[in-house]
Amino acid sequence: MDSFLIRGGVPLRGDVAISGGKNAALPIMAAALLTDEPCVIRGVPDLSDTRFMADILKSLGAETKWEGETLTIHARKVRGYADYELVRRMRGSICIAGPLLGRLRKARVSLPGGCVIGARPINLHLKGFEALGAEVRVEEGYVKASARALKGATLFLGGRAGSTVLGTANVMMAAALADGVTIIESAACEPEVVDVAAFLNEMGANVSGAGSPTITVTGVEKLHGAEHQIIPDRIEAATFAIAAAATGGDVTIRNARPDHLRAVLDKLNEAGVAVAERGACLVVRRAGTLKASDVTTLPYAGFPTDAQAQMTALLALAPGISIVTERVFESRFMHVSELARLGADIEIEGPSAIIKGGRPLSGAPVMASDLRASAALVIAGLAARGVTRVNRIYHLDRGYEKMDAKLRKLGAEIRRVRNAERG
Ligand code: EPU
Repeated sequence: MDSFLIRGGVPLRGDVAISGGKNAALPIMAAALLTDEPCVIRGVPDLSDTRFMADILKSLGAETKWEGETLTIHARKVRGYADYELVRRMRGSICIAGPLLGRLRKARVSLPGGCVIGARPINLHLKGFEALGAEVRVEEGYVKASARALKGATLFLGGRAGSTVLGTANVMMAAALADGVTIIESAACEPEVVDVAAFLNEMGANVSGAGSPTITVTGVEKLHGAEHQIIPDRIEAATFAIAAAATGGDVTIRNARPDHLRAVLDKLNEAGVAVAERGACLVVRRAGTLKASDVTTLPYAGFPTDAQAQMTALLALAPGISIVTERVFESRFMHVSELARLGADIEIEGPSAIIKGGRPLSGAPVMASDLRASAALVIAGLAARGVTRVNRIYHLDRGYEKMDAKLRKLGAEIRRVRNAERG
């Protein structure tokens, strides 16, 4: 298992290019199952999660070919049964269920478990499939869905914490090949959902309203192959912006979509960080002291839960009291106890982290628990005095493409070591 060794205290300077979005790429790769023609997807980030999704597609019978960041998927023939162990290992793989149901009218996919960021139910996905006329059973650890015919319907996907991103994508993908019109109310508005809808339309589907809470899908008989460019990863961009701010740096973030980052940029501003937009570039600069701020995570266009841990690390550096409230995954605070090892003073009170910020951080060995918690620890390590060792960075490799190389290019002293190595 690899670790990162970081010698902190170096302000990040220079420019960094953002990769394609992981959470757009995963359901778009799954959507390629909806056609027997080849699909060419550009800007697929090279991550363990995307490689893993490609393996799942192969196990279903699709051919996949990588050429750099272009992935061609040809699902000439598809099986409806995904390998239990393969699917169980990545929660995002639930998004193969919608395309399998749409194309084959049946899907058997292992039930994704909970994970370290909290319970991860899929009741809304299943409710959507049932509304389309599928019979859905959860049995022997599998979700088994089948339908003689899929029929368009009006359905409501709102849940306890808002809508569901992958649930919305799943229902859209199944409905693309259903008979008649499906109206998804309380649909997730995330840019990743818009990107999936764009890909479906490029394949010949008829989806409108994506990006709003009401999505209309008019079913078509058949979808064809298509080419698609994945949107930039807004969470990777947010992570680099926050890292620049935390180190008092000056970083130009290229290939970003500032319009997807409004809530993050607004909070950075509030925290005393200067952000300038130049087309697809963001220039993030912090010269003065950080200011305390309050942040609440919400579904899009609110502050993203996937940038909460990173923002918590930043606010630990801001003198004063900041409150970070998590409304999407309420127990997503695994990074807090590790940040404490670096000297951060943070207490958890229900869904909120109360941060008494401004204490100097000093390097320590810490353990990554999930993808975004790991990013928070890297940010804190970059800002801390001395050496931080972030263990178990396979979590980071799931969702950040070459993070260490990108940070090194910005001047960070960071290197990857095998655990046997003492560094
Ligand atoms: N929820 C339900 N029932 C469902 C589905 C979700 O109650 O059937 C609840 C969840 O428990 C949560 C909320 O609804 O409280 C939102 O969950 P959502 O379904 O939107 O999450 P997801 O689609 O499984 C995606 C991303 C996550 C990201 C969330 C929220 C992918 C592969 N994953 O998950 O990304 O946090 O949306 O934006 O797209 C990450 O990249 O680190 C990550 C965890």
